[in-house]
Amino acid sequence: MSEPQSATFAPRIFSGVQPSGQLTLGNYLGAIRNFVPLQDTHTCLYCMVDLHAITVWQDPEELARATRHVAAAFIASGLDSVKSALFNQSQVAEHAQLAWVFNCVARLGWLNRMTQFKEKAGKDREKASVGLYAYPTLMAADILLYKATGVPVGEDQKQHLELTRDIAQKFNNDWGKEVFPLTEPLILGDATRVMSLRDGTKKMSKSDPSDLSRINMSDDRDAIATKIRKAKTDPEPLPETVDGLEGRPEADNLVGIYGALAGISKDEVIRQFGGQGFGVFKPALADVAVERLGPIRDEMVRIESDPASLDAILRDGARRAREMAVPVLDEVYDVLGLVR
Ligand code: AMP
Ligand code: TRP
Repeated sequence: MSEPQSATFAPRIFSGVQPSGQLTLGNYLGAIRNFVPLQDTHTCLYCMVDLHAITVWQDPEELARATRHVAAAFIASGLDSVKSALFNQSQVAEHAQLAWVFNCVARLGWLNRMTQFKEKAGKDREKASVGLYAYPTLMAADILLYKATGVPVGEDQKQHLELTRDIAQKFNNDWGKEVFPLTEPLILGDATRVMSLRDGTKKMSKSDPSDLSRINMSDDRDAIATKIRKAKTDPEPLPETVDGLEGRPEADNLVGIYGALAGISKDEVIRQFGGQGFGVFKPALADVAVERLGPIRDEMVRIESDPASLDAILRDGARRAREMAVPVLDEVYDVLGLVR
């Protein structure tokens, strides 16, 4: 047996966002805004992962609305539908086909370790859908269907990307061919884990029952200002050095958000605001948030008011994605001996 040949893979970027609920500042800072510059250097595919969303119950009308909402957020944030393929996952059937193959590659033990499943399934695991359990194999299929070499995501997706690499490696080993790259997670910027405004130890999440816990990309300036004003803090003024943020999760989070929105480091934020109370810092934070998010929100409203044009963009994106996907799935079927 000869060693598998070392294939080189063209640089390609894939990422996905679930169309469920409202997009948050966490989605924007941790993921979407990092998608934009990659368009100039790489072939990029950005996806509304609707098949992932349905691993938990989704109201049909709400799912359709949320799919267009994420697409509008992508475009309003600067994604260009000519440079990048923007599409929804369910429209490229090859995602589900490759996911089945990966269900046969991934081991139960690997999936049992996934923390997102444990969190989402909660106490009554017997009642979780089989889809929720297999969620990571579909995610690996999303990525490897395009032989993506890089995936921009927030920190919470690290474990899923490790599993994607494990699946690629086992596939390549089992069939003795270097079919798939070992994809690199691209966890970029200073806001890879934006925390809840109500609890600095919890991730800001679109599924948190309290709307006050998050800034939504569609919030208007009043909502943004109110949520920041009500954000949980401690009674101390901001410290004189960044080290002083240790053990103060809420203060640390707000400083991090300010820096990410203003495009400066936490050090610089502390240089400007160290020693000041939240009575001064919170209004400044609200201003910078409104300044950054306001124009994106206005653009989202405009784009969402014309769903027919949006749907045409997504259909075109799906067509281009399929053109890239079909040869890869054909290659996989040939490697496995699935006659076609
Ligand atoms: P989801 O909303 O779970 O589909 O997440 C879409 C993208 O946003 C993923 O890359 C996540 O890692 C990222 N993301 C979600 N919430 C946060 C957060 N609070 N901080 C940073 N990134 C996040
Ligand atoms: N699991 C990701 C999340 O919850 C969404 C996702 C699905 C994804 N498929 C992907 C992200 C492929 C990156 C690449 O955030």
